[in-house]
Amino acid sequence: MKILIIHGPNLNLLGQREPDIYGTESLAEINHKISTKAETLNLNPVCRQSNHEGVIIDWLHNAAQEDFSGIIINPAAFTHTSVAIRDAIAAISLPVIEVHLSNINNREEFRQQSLTAAVCKGLIGGFGSNSYLLALDACKLQFNS
Ligand code: DQA
Repeated sequence: MKILIIHGPNLNLLGQREPDIYGTESLAEINHKISTKAETLNLNPVCRQSNHEGVIIDWLHNAAQEDFSGIIINPAAFTHTSVAIRDAIAAISLPVIEVHLSNINNREEFRQQSLTAAVCKGLIGGFGSNSYLLALDACKLQFNS
C-alpha cells in the first residue's frame, strides 16, 4: 500500500528550527524513521516537502492517479490559514490523516484552529516525530482493505 507523506512549509528546516518545540531531528532523519516503521507494516511511503501551497494542492489532486491509498499530511502553518488546502483535501476521495509534531491545542491561540482537520479522517499531534509513526499505524488499521 503506497502512502503519500506531505510535509508543509518550513519543515525542511527541522533540526535547526525552534528545536525546543519541534525537536532536534532533521527532516531526513524523520523520513528515515518513517521508512523504517513503514517497512514493518508493509507500507510503501513516499515523503515529499514543499514550502508552496499550490504544489501541495497538486500533490493532493494527483495522489489517486499516482496509486496512493492514503495521505499523511503535516500542513504546518497552512493548517491555520489555507482554505485552498482544506478544499483540496475535501475534494479528493483518498483518506487523509493530519499530523503535527507539537500539540497545536496548547500553543498560541492562532494555532489552535485547524482549517484542515475537519476534512481529514483524524488528527495526531503532540508526539514529536512519533506523530508520523502513529499515523502510519492508523493507515494500516484504517485503510488496509
Ligand atoms: C506544526 C505546527 C504549526 O502550527 C506550525 O506552523 C508548524 C509545525 C507542527 O508540526 O507542530 O510549522 O505543524
